[in-house]
Amino acid sequence: MTVLRIDASIQGPNSASSELADLAEAEWLAVRPETTFVRRHVGTDPLPADAWSLALQARWLPEDQHTEQQRRAVELATTLTDELRQAEAVILALPLYNYGVSQHAKIWIDLAIAGGSQGERLLDGKPAIVLTTRGGGYGPGTPREGWDHNTAYLRRIVADVWGADLTLIERELTLAGVNPALDPLLETANLLKKAAHEAAGDAGRTLAAR
Ligand SMILES: Cc1cc2nc3c(=O)[nH]c(=O)nc-3n(C[C@H](O)[C@H](O)[C@H](O)COP(=O)(O)O)c2cc1C
Repeated sequence: MTVLRIDASIQGPNSASSELADLAEAEWLAVRPETTFVRRHVGTDPLPADAWSLALQARWLPEDQHTEQQRRAVELATTLTDELRQAEAVILALPLYNYGVSQHAKIWIDLAIAGGSQGERLLDGKPAIVLTTRGGGYGPGTPREGWDHNTAYLRRIVADVWGADLTLIERELTLAGVNPALDPLLETANLLKKAAHEAAGDAGRTLAAR
C-alpha cells in the first residue's frame, strides 16, 4: 500500500502540522508496517512558482512547440498528479499563513490539478487525512470569526474536487505560549492540542485498519 504525505510548513522542526502528521503516520505504520510512504515537503523544498502558468501555456500548444521550460513544467505537473492518482491514501499537513492557505500548498494543488483532466477526481473515495493548524482562534463569537480562509478551501479541494473520503483535523491557538497576547488562552490551547493529537493518532490507526 502507498500513502502520499505532503507537508507545507515553513517552520521546520517547530511545525505543529507536521507534528500531527507524524502522529498519524506513526499510528498508521503501527497497523500497517508494510506501507510505503511517498513524501513531499513543499515548505522546505518548494515547487517553482512559475511552473503552473508554464504548464497551462503548454496545454494550448502542440507538443513540438513547447519550450524547454514548458516541457519541464508539464512533467512536474504530471508527476504530482500521478502521485495523487497512485496513492491509496493521503496525509496532508497544510498550515494557515496570513489568514489563508499556504502559498506552497496552493502551488502544489494548482499543479496537481493542471496535470489532470478537467474535473478529475484524483482521490475518488480514498481516505485523506488533512491536518491544518493556525496560530490564533477563529471560533464563533471570536473577534476573528470568518478570517480563516484556509480550512474551507482545503475541504473544497480535497473532498469536493478530488473526491476523497476526508478526515479533517484542526488545531487552533498554536501560538499560545509564543505570543503573549494569547496567554489567557493557554489552558484552552493545551486542551485543543491534546484533542488534535489524539484525533491525528486515531485517524492514522483507524484508516490504516480499513
Ligand atoms: C508567516 C506566518 C504567517 C502566519 N499568519 C497567521 C495568520 O494569519 N493567522 C494565524 O492565526 N496564525 C498565523 N500564523 C501562525 C501559524 O498559523 C501557526 O504557526 C501554525 O502552527 C502554522 O502551522 P505549522 O506550525 O505547521 O507551520 C502565521 C505564521 C507564520 C510563520
